[in-house]
Amino acid sequence: MTAPLVEMRDISIQFGGVRAVDGVSLDLMPGEVVGLLGHNGAGKSTLIKILSGAYQASSGEIRVNGEPADIRSTRDAKKYGIETIYQTLALADNIDAAGNLFLGRELMTPWGTLDEERMAAETRGVMQRLNPNFRNLTTPVRSLSGGQRQSVAIARAIHFNARILIMDEPTAALGPAETRMVADLIRQLKAEGIGIFLISHDIHDVYDLADRCAVMKNGKMVGVVRTKDLSKDDILGMIIMGKNPVTGAVVY
Ligand SMILES: Nc1ncnc2c1ncn2[C@@H]1O[C@H](COP(=O)(O)OP(=O)(O)OP(=O)(O)O)[C@@H](O)[C@H]1O
Ligand SMILES: [Mg+2]
Repeated sequence: MTAPLVEMRDISIQFGGVRAVDGVSLDLMPGEVVGLLGHNGAGKSTLIKILSGAYQASSGEIRVNGEPADIRSTRDAKKYGIETIYQTLALADNIDAAGNLFLGRELMTPWGTLDEERMAAETRGVMQRLNPNFRNLTTPVRSLSGGQRQSVAIARAIHFNARILIMDEPTAALGPAETRMVADLIRQLKAEGIGIFLISHDIHDVYDLADRCAVMKNGKMVGVVRTKDLSKDDILGMIIMGKNPVTGAVVY
């Protein structure tokens, strides 16, 4: 048996009196896509920010590849191969794909100058592997489409050996064709053995991509189910009613 890429066990955090995440456990296997679902305020982003090192849990444990992981900052998380793509993408609009890929991790020549050639070549390589139709390598990302911008953000995450990718609502702002393109990217990463948490409040965004769906409500885990065992309506029921269809337990 391969060890899970990630195991989050009994994770809790509170802000003032609010238990934003309350005793939540969730794992992720290599090459697996797990949809993380729930209404606004369910605790999805907070849980994922704990994994990506932006917040620290008040209790609970995180394991990566079967070993306890000490994640106190986003830098720590990256060391464990955990990369996060936020909804805002955080791209620098006025520079091109290569500039964004290496932002803050620029390659230098032995003479201490920026190695533009090597950065451009590596960018071509990673874009070729991800999205062979991507040709706008020297265009400022401002003038790229939403799907192309998403490709650049994904390229940046995986180029530095991410094994665990967290995507917060990656298709929320995209049209149908671009959404299909991002879905293809996700399938490609999955085939490479990367594990992906796909956050959304809409089951339609994740149903066809996710191997399992984890549904949160009011900071608690309603249930983690195999997607193909349930219909979209069943999972929608979990999101709305907070009821686990297998155990019958209800989160209010
Ligand atoms: N930094 C913070 N300080 C105080 N409360 C917070 C903070 N971050 C989140 N919360 C609270 O924690 C709860 C969970 O919020 P979270 O952002 O994780 O929800 P979400 O499931 O990502 O929702 P959405 O779909 O709206 O993004 C909410 O009640 C929110 O108000
Ligand atoms: Mg959120």
